[in-house]
Amino acid sequence: MAAPVVDAKYLKEIETARRDLRAFIYNKKCAPIMLRLAFHDAGTYDAKTKTGGPNGSIRNEEEYNRDANSGLKIAIDFCETVKVKHPKISYADLYQLAGVVAVEVTGGPTIDFVPGRKDIMVSPEEGRLPDAKQGASHLREIFYRMGLSDKDIVALSGGHTLGGAHKDRSCFQGAWTNEPWKFDNSYFVELLKEAKVPLKEDELLKLPTDRALVDDPKFRYYVERYAKDEEAFFTDYAASHKKLSELGFTPT
Ligand code: HEM
Repeated sequence: MAAPVVDAKYLKEIETARRDLRAFIYNKKCAPIMLRLAFHDAGTYDAKTKTGGPNGSIRNEEEYNRDANSGLKIAIDFCETVKVKHPKISYADLYQLAGVVAVEVTGGPTIDFVPGRKDIMVSPEEGRLPDAKQGASHLREIFYRMGLSDKDIVALSGGHTLGGAHKDRSCFQGAWTNEPWKFDNSYFVELLKEAKVPLKEDELLKLPTDRALVDDPKFRYYVERYAKDEEAFFTDYAASHKKLSELGFTPT
């Protein structure tokens, strides 16, 4: 299979699309759902079979209608408004670019973006994304399958510094932090606070998978590090996000 040619024209198109995405995400206040879309397109990757991953397949009706992707049609439609202006750009690149821009416009780290992903219309089987009702071993099973590490799991979970859950989409409700439009390390600060006061009626959201990061000693090491040191979180997050956005993709 020949890789798509990322020539000077394509790169220029990426830069104008990046500017359009910045303005769009800022105006629509949709950074959280754009980041979630990027994760759900990429997070189906299986390193053994080299299937799934950031290939735009989430635009398949059958895939976006799955329970795990509930609500993401909104983000797919948002991206379509950018795609019509930049038809050259693959959906796979566009969704990952939207994720990178979402982090950037909310004050997060700059994530290196390399274009050239190919679109695939074949969806992987259902069940490859994490289930929020489970714990540490499930998280490892899912993220190790992608070829990611414990450090990646904790750093990427920091994406929950943005946005929140909606009962009609996931059975959960609420935000993880008091400033869900700001990308910072407050997700980790809040996680540790809760661990100290387990009986307190909690106002902020904690999924079972979020709690697992505090309960598992190997995960907790990173939670504590990121809660103390935002710069360390930003550095690791940017590296892990780049890995996630390039699963199965060899830049040419
Ligand atoms: C939202 C689960 C990892 C980014 C959500 C929601 C759930 C969830 C249940 C609520 C959806 C809704 O009701 O609208 C999980 C689980 C993960 C995980 C179990 C395993 C670690 C990630 C990662 C990222 C991410 C790696 C990005 C790097 C987001 C964002 C939202 C979100 C930004 C907010 C969406 C919005 O406000 O519309 N996640 N997630 N998540 N997730 Fe995750």
